Amino acid sequence: MNIGILISGRGSNMVSIAEAVISGNIPGAKVSVVISDKATAPGLTSAASLGIKAITIERFGRSREEHDKEIISELKNNEVELVCLAGYMRLVSPLFVSTFEGRIINIHPSLLPQFPGLNAQRQAIEAGVRETGCTVHYVDELLDHGEVILQRKIEVLPDDTEETLSNRLIKLENKTYVEALQQLVNRQN
Ligand code: GRF
Repeated sequence: MNIGILISGRGSNMVSIAEAVISGNIPGAKVSVVISDKATAPGLTSAASLGIKAITIERFGRSREEHDKEIISELKNNEVELVCLAGYMRLVSPLFVSTFEGRIINIHPSLLPQFPGLNAQRQAIEAGVRETGCTVHYVDELLDHGEVILQRKIEVLPDDTEETLSNRLIKLENKTYVEALQQLVNRQN
């Protein structure tokens, strides 16, 4: 299965997926392309150093749909069958969703439907929950919405700050995304 990964920043989930693919831990999967909507995304360098084609398709002042058209065509040129959003900070357009219907997935740092949107870890701290986690889910036209594929939980410690919680949670996310892909790819084979 050819995977295309969309990022906007650090790219630790992308690296985790790419390393799992390279080491044969997601049999049958290949990362064909990594696309960032920001030229400054540190994840671009990490992808390139793993030998993965890494490109930028800037948002500029374009509409969501115009921007997505260029991304769709790049994904198609690379024969991408599954799109993984990994810290991609832009809502995808209805055109994007219908082009890759049922073949776009995302990771979010909360137990959806709790705490959608930005700063999910801060939202968890402020809500005073004892437990949060991460969710890998199919992407539809709504933000952080769509059928859940896999959720993993983590305890919120009494002295946790947004930073300490985020640091623990990202490690769980990195593992959970790979696990979800193992399940999905397995189902296709
Ligand atoms: C992760 O917390 C992810 O759940 C959220 O954005 C962050 C991206 O981190 N959507 P990274 O770029 O994968 O390191």
